Amino acid sequence: MFSTVPAATTHRPRAERLQLLEALRTSFDGLDTTYERADGTRQRRIYLDSAASNLRCTAARAMADRAMQHYANTHSQLHMGASLMTALYDEAHAIVRRFVGAPEAYTAIFCGTGVTGGLNRMARVLTAQRPSRDVVITTMMEHHANDLPHRKHAGRVVHVPLAHDPDGEAGRVDMDALRRAIRTHADRLNYVAVTAASNVTGITNPVHEIARLAHDVGALCVVDAAQSAAHSPIRITGDRDDEALDVVCLSGHKIYAPGSPGVIVARKDLFAGHEPEEVGGGIVEFVDTERYTVTDALPDREETGTPNLPGAFLLASMLLLMERVGMDLIAEDERALTQYAMERFTAIDGLHLYGSHRLEVAERIGVLTFNLEGLPHGLVTAILNDYFGIAVRNECFCAQPFVRQLLGIADATGVAPDSCLDTCTPQAQPGMVRVSLGLYNTRADVDAAADALADIAARPDAYRSKYRALRNGHGDWAHTDFNVPPHELLTLEGAADDWVRDALSS
Ligand code: ALA
Repeated sequence: MFSTVPAATTHRPRAERLQLLEALRTSFDGLDTTYERADGTRQRRIYLDSAASNLRCTAARAMADRAMQHYANTHSQLHMGASLMTALYDEAHAIVRRFVGAPEAYTAIFCGTGVTGGLNRMARVLTAQRPSRDVVITTMMEHHANDLPHRKHAGRVVHVPLAHDPDGEAGRVDMDALRRAIRTHADRLNYVAVTAASNVTGITNPVHEIARLAHDVGALCVVDAAQSAAHSPIRITGDRDDEALDVVCLSGHKIYAPGSPGVIVARKDLFAGHEPEEVGGGIVEFVDTERYTVTDALPDREETGTPNLPGAFLLASMLLLMERVGMDLIAEDERALTQYAMERFTAIDGLHLYGSHRLEVAERIGVLTFNLEGLPHGLVTAILNDYFGIAVRNECFCAQPFVRQLLGIADATGVAPDSCLDTCTPQAQPGMVRVSLGLYNTRADVDAAADALADIAARPDAYRSKYRALRNGHGDWAHTDFNVPPHELLTLEGAADDWVRDALSS
């Protein structure tokens, strides 16, 4: 029933799709959340931290909730709810495959919550399946999730450097260096693991070209699409057969579906004969106390246990909504906002934006990482929160080698000096500030951030005098007399007490 051809609805007239995009923009939980500020006023939070996790889509939640009216376990078989759950769970797999344009030769496996589970799983599977190939090539711009699993499970990991634009700013992976690395390790190269878009600079990589180079030497191409999937179209097949990606990993909480699983979309044949990574109920055909046999069917073989159905329904629902708007339109819209944000940010005195600013040289999604001269990243981030109600992330974004290299405190190969182990104290903790965009962000949000940063840059001492550095190992700063303890906002105990009060008074 669910094919891998693009959904007919993506061919709606552009005007209708724009209308859908506008409707979707305002359909997120938490857009109206207000917090108190250091000046005593309350303000609607401006969420500019979508690269960490984006907000949950209300419309997708409503769709998933409809399914949840029938909730049952997929391992039950014959009652109505159970068979509907099984059908919907199958549909969710098919929707994921269609979203990345994966043909029948691929399977979609729900796994973990982000790409970390999926990339660890694939590192173990590909290492076991291709034991004579013990080298993995990755890049300097990877999240730890697309680096450490290969180091732990797959053997030697080679980090390819990045290209730099005429301004000297880091761009995408250096394709000449990648070609050389692939040639050097041709016989032993298992796979190239590359991010589709950096979570630090937002800059994208030519994944299909990389797949072709890997395939030329019998290696595979594994793509970390955590950061890109909700922001730009991804197609698992390339323009040519040898450009098809072998594995793509997606992160549910970065696709407006927090609480949902992550997903591996991979060629089925990569699992041929492989003992499932985890075993238990739901995947076995026969079990006695001495033997068990596991189904050959994928993805079942790799999804033992009771699945996270609400999460899978939420993710699939969100993918359908984005598909109906069209990822081309979503990407176009974000590109315009990203360009606008880059113009506004780079006009601020003392703000250094990392990564190439030239979209024509290094395409990027809506991730902007920077520092303000002379101001620690933790201080800037705390001021944005406390005085402006703006939520951003700071520090190293789970990409320490790349961040240190951009900051000039790691060498060309990404190795940090030993002294860094001592100097990375709370006060000196290296890092950056990151503004990242989601479907709900507008020019007004970017203006608010740019105006706030300009004000901080213009009056650094006025702000600094109100803060002290915390010695917590993260480079965090705290206001000296403004502090809203999280438990004053909400506790689960308090929520339970509210329920009890309402239940008893009704
Ligand atoms: N990977 C997430 C980030 O980039 C958490 O912030």
